[in-house]
Amino acid sequence: MAGTRHAAITGWGMAMPDRILTNADLAEMVETSDEWIVSRTGIRERRIAGTQDTTTSLSVGAARQALDRAGITADEIDLIIVGTCTPDQFLVSQACLVQAELGGTAGAFDLGAACSGFVYALATGSQFVQTGLHNRVLVIGVDTLTRFVDYTDRTTCVLFGDGAGAVVLEATDEERGLLSTVLGADGAGNKHLYIPGWGAFVPESAELFPEYRPYLQMNGNEVFRFAVRVMGDAAAEAVEQAGLSFADVDMLIPHQANLRIIDAAARRLDLPRDKVWVNVDRYGNTSAASVPIALCEAEAAGKLAEGDNLVFVAFGGGLSWAAGVVRWGTEGVCRDPACRSRRGR
Ligand SMILES: CC(C)(COP(=O)(O)OP(=O)(O)OC[C@H]1O[C@@H](n2cnc3c(N)ncnc32)[C@H](O)[C@@H]1OP(=O)(O)O)[C@@H](O)C(=O)NCCC(=O)NCCS
Repeated sequence: MAGTRHAAITGWGMAMPDRILTNADLAEMVETSDEWIVSRTGIRERRIAGTQDTTTSLSVGAARQALDRAGITADEIDLIIVGTCTPDQFLVSQACLVQAELGGTAGAFDLGAACSGFVYALATGSQFVQTGLHNRVLVIGVDTLTRFVDYTDRTTCVLFGDGAGAVVLEATDEERGLLSTVLGADGAGNKHLYIPGWGAFVPESAELFPEYRPYLQMNGNEVFRFAVRVMGDAAAEAVEQAGLSFADVDMLIPHQANLRIIDAAARRLDLPRDKVWVNVDRYGNTSAASVPIALCEAEAAGKLAEGDNLVFVAFGGGLSWAAGVVRWGTEGVCRDPACRSRRGR
């Protein structure tokens, strides 16, 4: 609605590690094959953080691109939110580590919702802008989950990759940015996808420690069933909540975990393949980074136009899910430095 305050996406960026791990590489490490991985997941290769890559370095790379594109500097940002489940350290927050590199004194905090983390963080950041508390928020989705992948476990090691994506949100009176928000979780399903032993919890008996090795654990079949259900339902709910019909959707930007899950979500919204952004083949599941990376690539391919309705949808550990309709474009955002005062309107 024009006249109401909205949070337009005015900048976007992504950063990927250089190192590529192909299905053929994995077939030399575990009992698997390119044919199995492609037919069950759609993944052909993924990027793996090297020793020079950190959650911080990837975040900063994506954030710098997003700030440049928005034409602002880090000290013009009011708030930094990082959606991640693989921060470089627990104390301090990943957001403060990013700020140390970027500069500025914006508020900074992390948000943990696993692979749904970016969409949760986008919803949170948008609220700060929509309420008028802040004018500009930097939202980052980043993960280096391969640090926690067991490369002797073929059921998980073929799925994940690393990366980062970021967006800048800025205030506008035009109907831009997030138009609807669907957030959900089923905490009872927490053991279907988790990393044990990487937190303050310590088992009572020392003998239990081997069980708490810090490798990602997953019940693939349960997660698959859950994902097919919630991706479609959450996306459909987000469209309805925005007062739109499926025919109004210009592009689905889904979490890239498995091509079969993406296809199921697209079917639920009755969308043809050319309205669904897919890059899972090249990056695998980059967790919280996957939606903003997909957004950046869709934009770079010239697929997004001012006023387009995009549907973001993600699922992940928690179990959690998140979706929203984003009206693309920067209409109404004040580009004049004079109205870029630090806080408030
Ligand atoms: C993991 C996943 C790809 C497995 O695909 P699937 O079609 O369900 O396969 P299944 O788990 O039923 O396994 C079928 C067989 O393939 C085997 N298999 C598993 N991984 C394999 C691999 N990488 N290569 C070859 N065979 C593999 C299994 O051991 C099983 O063998 P069995 O029948 O002899 O026991 C799928 O369940 C999935 O994508 N789940 C969601 C995971 C996810 O998205 N996680 C992240 C959420 S953010």
